[in-house]
Amino acid sequence: MNLAEMKKLFKDYVQEIVPYEPGKPIEEVERELGLLRVTKLASNENPLGPSRRALRAMRAALRRVHLYPDGGAYELKKRLSQEYSLPADQLVVGNGSNEIIELLARGFLNEGDRVISSEHSFLVYPLIAKTCGASYVPVPMRDFRYDLKGILNQIDERTKIIFIANPNNPTGTYVTAQEVEDFLSKVPKDVVVCFDEAYVDFVEAKDFPYLLFHVKANKPNVVLLRTFSKSFGLAGLRVGYGMASGEMVRYLEKIRQPFNVNRIAQIGACAALDDRLFLWRSKRLVARGRLYLYRKFEQMGLNYVPSEANFVLVDVKRDARTLAQALLKYGMIVRAMNAYGLDTHLRVTIGTRFELMRFIRILKRVLRKGEINP
Ligand SMILES: Cc1ncc(COP(=O)(O)O)c(C=O)c1O
Repeated sequence: MNLAEMKKLFKDYVQEIVPYEPGKPIEEVERELGLLRVTKLASNENPLGPSRRALRAMRAALRRVHLYPDGGAYELKKRLSQEYSLPADQLVVGNGSNEIIELLARGFLNEGDRVISSEHSFLVYPLIAKTCGASYVPVPMRDFRYDLKGILNQIDERTKIIFIANPNNPTGTYVTAQEVEDFLSKVPKDVVVCFDEAYVDFVEAKDFPYLLFHVKANKPNVVLLRTFSKSFGLAGLRVGYGMASGEMVRYLEKIRQPFNVNRIAQIGACAALDDRLFLWRSKRLVARGRLYLYRKFEQMGLNYVPSEANFVLVDVKRDARTLAQALLKYGMIVRAMNAYGLDTHLRVTIGTRFELMRFIRILKRVLRKGEINP
């Protein structure tokens, strides 16, 4: 079989998928450009590193890696269940919250179904919808925010899942409690609404929705997603979880891999949950880092979108991809948002103060040198 023949074997809709492009790993940039000092502010990771407590627990757990993990993630679910006062059978854990997104898609979507979300949102939603042969409807934003009324208008009888990233990646904006309640009262009961709260720990807004009570009330069509990748600093471990009605969780459990969350990840996540000081330091760093970037962008005359997450979207008024390439030459990895339909925007992850100062210094240098014209 030659390459062309093999290509024909793939499903038509798989051939059309544009692969997800993650932020460049530090090691790759060091290797390719021969740089010694590289700063990565591109993947919304935690600049504090992992919590020491989690590290200690994981080191001890290494001795048992010859054994399969607990397929039911009993301890982790128990710990999460205590954390939220939610029965353990309303929790599903995954290889990152990305896996739960995938389980929802695999569990619910038939070919030809519809998934609705927003434009300028997490690129994994269209990727996974298309993998299942569903169509993906990105509803236009209003002022960089999800337009929930616009989403309601798009619901039809083929609509199965609505994804709402709250706060949203890459804009950092959120939908309010009032907007969500109004929305949920109008969504048909047979449409799954998944609130992806990957960045919830960084939220300071007082009118941010508290949706756990819908889950506690066993509302059948609401799913909440959370992750250990951001505020807990464990992105490389890949652990996330979903909270939903018992019935929904039972279905998702049926289709997951038996050992989807590895042994070290389960133990690291449990220990991280106990490290309240680490969580507090992460939140404080992000809150201060956002304010620092706002101030610097204002001084530089650049518009930014106020953020409730651990990154800030900034309009650099020129092609973002070209600018990101220029920054890369100085060992600064940030994310150009062209693939998200924001051609003149960069997304900058909140790093340590030192990293942010370095970013601003390099950005100013590149803009001043006029290497990149508007
Ligand atoms: C909105 C959103 N949801 C989910 C995730 C994925 O998180 P995880 O690492 O738990 O798979 C991300 C990661 O960047 C994200 O931005």
